Amino acid sequence: MEVVIVDHPEQVMADIVENAVRGGAKTIGLATGSSPLATYDELIRRHRDEGLSFAGVNAVLLDEYVGLVPTHPESYARFIRDKFTDHIDIGDVHSPDGMAPDSRIAADAYDALIAEVGPVDVQILGIGSNGHIGFNEPSSSLTSRTRIKTLTEKTRQDNARFFDSFDEVPMHVITQGLGTICDAKHLILVATGSGKAAAVAAAVEGPLSASCPASVLQLHRHATMVVDPAAAADL
Ligand code: GLP
Repeated sequence: MEVVIVDHPEQVMADIVENAVRGGAKTIGLATGSSPLATYDELIRRHRDEGLSFAGVNAVLLDEYVGLVPTHPESYARFIRDKFTDHIDIGDVHSPDGMAPDSRIAADAYDALIAEVGPVDVQILGIGSNGHIGFNEPSSSLTSRTRIKTLTEKTRQDNARFFDSFDEVPMHVITQGLGTICDAKHLILVATGSGKAAAVAAAVEGPLSASCPASVLQLHRHATMVVDPAAAADL
């Protein structure tokens, strides 16, 4: 795994995505959460000011809450449109169906869709403070496929800041599995701030373990972690 420690991770992240897109990438993988927002802002700026076009590129999202309609302000389908894809000329943006009557069927269907539109050329990732990627919480199988997961209390607490109350944070999600994520050709994970330092250290220097799902990047043939000095503090 390559680790890049830099004051402005969004510049390195945007450079990697831009190079992929200008090099003919057909599918990019997008993450939600606050970590990639600066990267999305930078890519929007390059689209607006520097002619970076996403025409002909499709996107797949990592995960979705179960039970939130796609128009709900905190649904990830809505989040990614508001923060990124509505501001560029990208093609289709796919996400798991959190409102499907049977989430297990929806998860299988999403895994099949990724195989169809994939392979993902470059997959953007954040990292949870407990080391999760997507919504693969600790103890997730390192070869898991897209499936329904129950969130840990810690993750629900972390994400409660986006909702009116803790109780409104959904309990269940559909997330790409760690095996699904690792099908992407290039994984790029961004982390900033001291709150991510322990998770970054566990992912990079800890044992390969389901206890730290992001440690699966150690197995990947092309993984890049882009972190600021605060997030790198425990390395
Ligand atoms: C969320 C998302 C992840 C994200 C992580 C960190 O729960 N499912 O994709 O990487 O938590 O979020 P943040 O970047 O806001 O710290």
